[in-house]
Amino acid sequence: MEIRSVGIVGAGTMGNGIAHVFARSGIAVILCDLEQRFLDRGLGAIGKNLDREVTKNKISADDKVATLGRITAVLDRSKLASCELVIEAATEKFEIKTEIFRDLDRIMKPEVILASNTSSISITKLAAMTGRADKIIGMHFFNPVPVMKLVEIIRGLATSPATFETVRGLAERLGKTPVEVNDAPGFVSNRVLMPLLNEAMYAVMEGVATAEAVDEVFKLGMAHPMGPLTLADFIGLDVCLDIMRVLQDGLGDPKYRPCPLLIRMVDAGWLGRKSGRGFYTY
Ligand SMILES: NC(=O)c1ccc[n+]([C@@H]2O[C@H](COP(=O)([O-])OP(=O)(O)OC[C@H]3O[C@@H](n4cnc5c(N)ncnc54)[C@H](O)[C@@H]3O)[C@@H](O)[C@H]2O)c1
Repeated sequence: MEIRSVGIVGAGTMGNGIAHVFARSGIAVILCDLEQRFLDRGLGAIGKNLDREVTKNKISADDKVATLGRITAVLDRSKLASCELVIEAATEKFEIKTEIFRDLDRIMKPEVILASNTSSISITKLAAMTGRADKIIGMHFFNPVPVMKLVEIIRGLATSPATFETVRGLAERLGKTPVEVNDAPGFVSNRVLMPLLNEAMYAVMEGVATAEAVDEVFKLGMAHPMGPLTLADFIGLDVCLDIMRVLQDGLGDPKYRPCPLLIRMVDAGWLGRKSGRGFYTY
């Protein structure tokens, strides 16, 4: 089935990026958040990111206007009812996502697929909150969404082949490259990436090297476009900590213990780029 309209829950970093790529591909978007100021901030970010694409001649000024014209911002979640698929991109807390999935299951027509952009929470557990476990799937985009090619597509235990094929086709329509993974804590991306970032934090905490030196090693020695501590600041240190805790709880191996320095920094409100201070000052 060709999807013509999507609902997106959460207009933050990821939700506004996801709205951007769908609307740019000609698909109508209804974007929902809790407060008008979050919607305004999300729409503002989409406008700025589209301007950047116009400046780089990736799209025309008319494309920008048409893209913005395809996005409707709403506070009332029941307005998503007309959409043919919904992607949840709200805060990475199990209780928040549980409430959203239960409610969407009630609001949306029974044939509608409900996807989550979660970085680490079990798709199988989210599916169990609904009466349509075969239509629940992970559609994990990467930041910044308009730029990054990958979409990790996560099958829950009960996800049907038809749901998987619809979502894979949709990712391709957005110009993305879907990669299939099964449901396990952190999927593939964060299962491998987060322990690297966490270990880099241990190296700083133990005085092995400064944050700058650790990042230089990865940029110059491993050709990473940015070092692990710059990347952690970019992702958000609170997000990194939440994901380490999901890995620790879900996999049980002590190697997933969050770095004490990371915990202290989050306690201090040093969340990286978004708070102005993390391993670097912004
Ligand atoms: N930041 C990243 O690099 C990244 C990458 C991939 C996936 N993710 C995942 O994407 C999701 C969103 O992350 P983010 O970085 O965009 O977070 P964010 O904090 O920037 O945005 C979250 C948004 O969700 C809204 N929200 C919270 N509860 C809501 C509710 N009940 N209904 C509607 N909106 C609600 C918040 O108001 C906020 O605007 C998380 O699951 C995260 O793990 C993040």
